Amino acid sequence: MMQHAAPGGFANHWHLVHLGKFALGGAGLILTESTAVSPVGRIGQDDAGLWEDGHIEPWRQVVDFVHQCGAAIGVQLGHAGRKAGSKSLWESGRALTPQEMKDIDPRWARIGPSPIPAGEGWSAPQEMTLSDIEGVKNEFTQAAKRAHQAGFDVIELHFGHGYLITSFLSPISNQRTDGYGGSLECRMRFAVEIAACVRDVWPQEKPIWCRISVVDGAVGGWSVDDSIELVLRLQEIGIDVMDCSSGGLTEQTNALPVARGLGFQVPFSKRIKADTGITTQAVGMILDAQQAEDVLTSGGADLVAIGREALFDPYWPLHAQWTLERDPEFTDWNLRHKVWLSKRQAFLDTLKT
Ligand SMILES: Cc1cc2nc3c(=O)[nH]c(=O)nc-3n(C[C@H](O)[C@H](O)[C@H](O)COP(=O)(O)O)c2cc1C
Repeated sequence: MMQHAAPGGFANHWHLVHLGKFALGGAGLILTESTAVSPVGRIGQDDAGLWEDGHIEPWRQVVDFVHQCGAAIGVQLGHAGRKAGSKSLWESGRALTPQEMKDIDPRWARIGPSPIPAGEGWSAPQEMTLSDIEGVKNEFTQAAKRAHQAGFDVIELHFGHGYLITSFLSPISNQRTDGYGGSLECRMRFAVEIAACVRDVWPQEKPIWCRISVVDGAVGGWSVDDSIELVLRLQEIGIDVMDCSSGGLTEQTNALPVARGLGFQVPFSKRIKADTGITTQAVGMILDAQQAEDVLTSGGADLVAIGREALFDPYWPLHAQWTLERDPEFTDWNLRHKVWLSKRQAFLDTLKT
């Protein structure tokens, strides 16, 4: 989840503690916030990055700590596209003007498949040339190589939420007439090519996740059936896990959302898993241990991702385990904590008898 806490794109103490606490909390895999593959591709001013070699070492420190705690960590690689340049949510979340973006960094700009703004208040993106498309493919490739050097276990490609790659997928934002627009096949081309470039340089033994918005939530937009076609293509390339989210293409789609509720995106994950056989991850309003367990055992998903609940309780995984298993030895807790928790629990149990 975006932190907007990395001036210059450099991970720092914030990321070490913020992500490290989830490792202590028993997460199996931690996925970083969307990490920009280029300065142009930043969503907000202080997004984390992997667009230069200097970003590797600070990330390595975070990765090493997470590994010491026994967890795995993946980096989500993203490019904001036409949704580049927004204030953080606690500062209104509004779109910056093109001049404000230039004042912050002359390199920063909105780019996209077609000059169609993301919504009211957003400037039209610069229509990407074929050479721009090649450039972004190379940026993903180079960022993937740096991710490996930093020691990440997983890459998650961020192809969702209306950012650059989604904007190519959806007919609402992509009105190109060349090989990257028009038919479903052509609109998927950029996503498929990026995935192939990253798969080529990412070690075979390390998996790749891909997050998509399974639907735009807009009339005439990207559909579940389109997602299934995309997943089949990504599966051929060697993408291992589909992380099933939704929405985010335009403000209009935000106003016509997929109905929110507990586990509201699980049906998307279930459908993708059933129709393609790929491993899926469900996300969105998965709140407690039993709910998560039910998603896994009912065929809703192979993995569950916990977002805001993990902010509420960074020890969510270990607490979920406690709820489901009540292991009196606290076996999976950190070495420095488990003995004390075990003694504490034994004492608490004597109070109950
Ligand atoms: C503060 C915040 C930042 C987020 N940043 C990202 C992000 O960087 N990449 C992403 O794919 N989703 C991002 N999301 C969406 C979450 O990953 C997640 O899909 C969403 O919050 C629904 O899951 P939850 O109900 O468990 O929080 C963000 C959500 C929040 C609340």
